[in-house]
Amino acid sequence: MSFAGKTLRELENSGLRRQLRVHSGEILNFSTNDYLNLSSHPLVRKRAIEAVELFGAGAGGSRLMAGNLSLHEDLERELALLTGMKTALVYGSGFLTNLGVLTSLAGRNDVIFSDRLNHASLVDGATASRAEVRRYRHGNVEHLSDLLRSSGSVGRKIIVTDSVFSMDGDVAPLRDIHKLSTAEGCLLVVDEAHAIGVFGSGGGICKELGICPDVITGTLSKALGGYGGFAACSAEMREYFVNRSRSFVYTTALPPASVGSALGALEVINSTPGMGSSLLDLAADFRKKLVETGFDVNGSASQIVPVVIGESPAALSLSRSLEDKGVLAVAIRPPTVPSGTARLRFSVTLAHSSDDILRTVSELERL
Ligand SMILES: Cc1ncc(COP(=O)(O)O)c(C=O)c1O
Repeated sequence: MSFAGKTLRELENSGLRRQLRVHSGEILNFSTNDYLNLSSHPLVRKRAIEAVELFGAGAGGSRLMAGNLSLHEDLERELALLTGMKTALVYGSGFLTNLGVLTSLAGRNDVIFSDRLNHASLVDGATASRAEVRRYRHGNVEHLSDLLRSSGSVGRKIIVTDSVFSMDGDVAPLRDIHKLSTAEGCLLVVDEAHAIGVFGSGGGICKELGICPDVITGTLSKALGGYGGFAACSAEMREYFVNRSRSFVYTTALPPASVGSALGALEVINSTPGMGSSLLDLAADFRKKLVETGFDVNGSASQIVPVVIGESPAALSLSRSLEDKGVLAVAIRPPTVPSGTARLRFSVTLAHSSDDILRTVSELERL
């Protein structure tokens, strides 16, 4: 048997094999990151179509060659306003943003301090930077502080954290991390992928708390309903990324349709105050009902609500039974989450009604 076949069989035997599936539009979907239900919004579609009509299907090259469109710069101005940062730089995706930001900020002589539950793109960016990587216990500022103080490095120190954690839905202690980062002379990078569009009137948690890290990274593919990523930072840092960030320099610019749809999503968010807070209220109601029913939601404080089951086969089986009842909540298994904490990850969205929430909790309870 080939090495690939052998690996797949091992994954199958431990309940960890993943498969691509096409889900029908009929199902009650708790596995989408389209939190504000904007991917199908008429204005978002319209702006994508207009962008294609005006600029074509592709940008035709990298931003530094001939691919830099006025539309990219319009979007960057809007993202800077949204996050309250001086400027923004659009990348091909959130993953490419984190990769590009970390590999350009850190090198061989530097140290990256990374929350243990950071997203894979931050983990891979840190590894690819060739810096020393020190992982601190999840959300634990004391441990972070100990690691910082015991580090003998003379190079740059960079603290990296998600603001909302993608598989737990809890929120990093950003005020304390920011304070520590400033006191220790570190650079601070905060990934707001799951908070943009939802927290802080759409601008994210740093904006809500009045914190200005060195770099905020984000994505256009979750609450904004489309595709692409961005880094928000100072004008000087933006120029630095334009010159040094390989996943920005050596790749084709984001296509016009994606830029247009993101601009449309920002128009909707800016003209409809309260979308994020309505979503958070709905999620709080879902969490309350789950906890009352006896489920553990693992510290969630956002629209991402995990129901931790434990072993992978049990999580998979619950997910399948729920799907038979018309509710989609994909089972998340190791290595995406630590072993023994396989879970169903529910994301509440504005497409859900209070009745949907009630129905889902009662199906879960019955199962
Ligand atoms: C915290 C976090 N950062 C970055 C990303 C990557 O974003 P994208 O899907 O735009 O590549 C994701 C999810 O995919 C994420 O959950």
